[in-house]
Amino acid sequence: MCGIVGYVGSKQALDVIVNGLRRLEYRGYDSAGVAIISDGALVVRKKAGKLANLETLIGSDPMPDSTTGIGHTRWATHGGPTDRNAHPHVSEDGRVAVIHNGIIENFAGLRAELTAAGVVLASETDTEVVAHLLAHSLPEADGDLAEAMRRTCRRLEGAFTLVCIDRTQPDLVVAARRNSPLVVGLGEGENFVASDVAAFVDHTRSALELGQDQVVAIRPDSVVVTDFAGEPVETRPFHVDWDTSAAEKGGYDLYMLKEIAEQPRAVADSLRGRISKDHRIQLDASEAEDAALRAVTKVVVIACGTAAHAGMVAKYAIEHWTRLPVEVELASEFRYRDPIVGPDTLVIAISQSGETMDTLMALRHAKAQGAKTLAICNTVGSTIPRESDAVLYTYAGPEISVASTKAFLTQIIAAYLVGLYLAQVRGSMFEDEIRGILEELDSMPSKVDLVLDTTEPVRALARELASSTSVLFLGRHVGFPVALEGALKLKELAYMHAEGFAAGELKHGPIALIEEGVPVIVIVPSPRGRSVLHDKIVSNIQEVRARGARVIAIAEEGDEVIAEFADHVIRIPAVPTLMQPLVATVPLQVFACEMATARGLDVDQPRNLAKSVTVE
Ligand code: AGP
Repeated sequence: MCGIVGYVGSKQALDVIVNGLRRLEYRGYDSAGVAIISDGALVVRKKAGKLANLETLIGSDPMPDSTTGIGHTRWATHGGPTDRNAHPHVSEDGRVAVIHNGIIENFAGLRAELTAAGVVLASETDTEVVAHLLAHSLPEADGDLAEAMRRTCRRLEGAFTLVCIDRTQPDLVVAARRNSPLVVGLGEGENFVASDVAAFVDHTRSALELGQDQVVAIRPDSVVVTDFAGEPVETRPFHVDWDTSAAEKGGYDLYMLKEIAEQPRAVADSLRGRISKDHRIQLDASEAEDAALRAVTKVVVIACGTAAHAGMVAKYAIEHWTRLPVEVELASEFRYRDPIVGPDTLVIAISQSGETMDTLMALRHAKAQGAKTLAICNTVGSTIPRESDAVLYTYAGPEISVASTKAFLTQIIAAYLVGLYLAQVRGSMFEDEIRGILEELDSMPSKVDLVLDTTEPVRALARELASSTSVLFLGRHVGFPVALEGALKLKELAYMHAEGFAAGELKHGPIALIEEGVPVIVIVPSPRGRSVLHDKIVSNIQEVRARGARVIAIAEEGDEVIAEFADHVIRIPAVPTLMQPLVATVPLQVFACEMATARGLDVDQPRNLAKSVTVE
């Protein structure tokens, strides 16, 4: 999963590219590099580490003026994060430079073929084979770089966004995509290619999304798109409706803090326009789609990481509202377990980025089995919604920090809307029941706001516990996936062992982990909803405290019982059971963020991680 930028126009290509890469650095930061064309020569600079390392290199070894170039920030897949493996990669004859996002699955055979032909490979990467194949294809293509790209792509298997330049054609950038994102920025006398619109939105908000197995050739005054066979393809430009300020930190020290604070608006925006004045769900579904939903006998959610936790929360609600069985499957496991999926299955793919390869491949498997597919996604025009039968976008706005926060809450909102819509079209709930829940959802932005106003005790606790070696999280019912999500946040941000448990599972083994002073964070169910759950979790708290645990209870206002059993109580607004994940998760996000900050770690770009994992 990498950041990619290509530019051709009248500006200094290096400036445009480096600024674009800076906006994409969240996509990968193992190394960075640029290539420009100057006086018929390729000029390349590349360096392991973050973009700043590349800028330092260029500062000490300046590059000439140029108006054509490509740039790359890398998340390593094949070959370690070294200078040698950094992109761009150049063909042996020095004519072509190429950058790549994805994985060339048949690269080993191609490397062997090139080696046998006497090519000396300079890196360990899969990408380098593309540079050599392009150079070898140019003569057969009569020097047509786009045709050379098409010929090369027809030999490749796997997932790739490729962008290349040819030193003999200084006003041309050619790109191709299969299973990996690529957007084209349409400017005046200039054009761009990038893995994300954030790279060029400073220059133009007119863009088009390249489709599967397509090649684009951009010049300052032309954009030509074909398929891999060379046939022209109709394109659909779109307007980018957020500017870079939305993707900037907006005054916060961290993208994560900004995105945690944006959650009330994100929830409100994701509800907006989907509830009619007479409190019915309106999702722009056709009558045929409604009929298909009435025929559904099972729902399967496929997702990864935080998105999977959102699916687990939604399971409780959708089963309760529709009486349909809901299976939540880790996407990376789904297609390898020979799942039972057919035309009467609704498969819901939840993904913030819309590019997670595990989820995309699971989606394709489900489609091949005839399932109806619906994407819940935060990235307009990304691959997963484009390959689904329908999509319900979350409107959380760009989520830059690697740790997912506002996407999680809005994924729950969207999944709830799907569940209520299913109940509405299938008649499994009375209209007034649906109306009541919609009114609860309507109140959630303000409830989340209340939590955000009372986070100081959580921050103080995080700083106090910063030297802990392990933290456990307990929850019941919808609190269980919240416990998993709290543990994931702590793992990925503070690099600390953390584990979430169904509280009832503790006595079946994990309680052996409890010893003096171990912090245990407990998501306490409302005493008003299912009081039996509240009573059970109080027992669980007593079990761990008896063994020396330090108990931090996330409990609703007015729950006075819990105060006598917990060492600390973090208060959240009293909300109905199914709404609690939307408020209980926020303190856990803040806790993990503060813990990582106290530990001096890189909160927005944690080690080993990337914002969107576009490799399996
Ligand atoms: C969450 O904090 C992680 N960044 C990760 O688990 C993420 O949720 C997962 O990779 C799925 O990403 P997606 O929503 O873009 O598909």
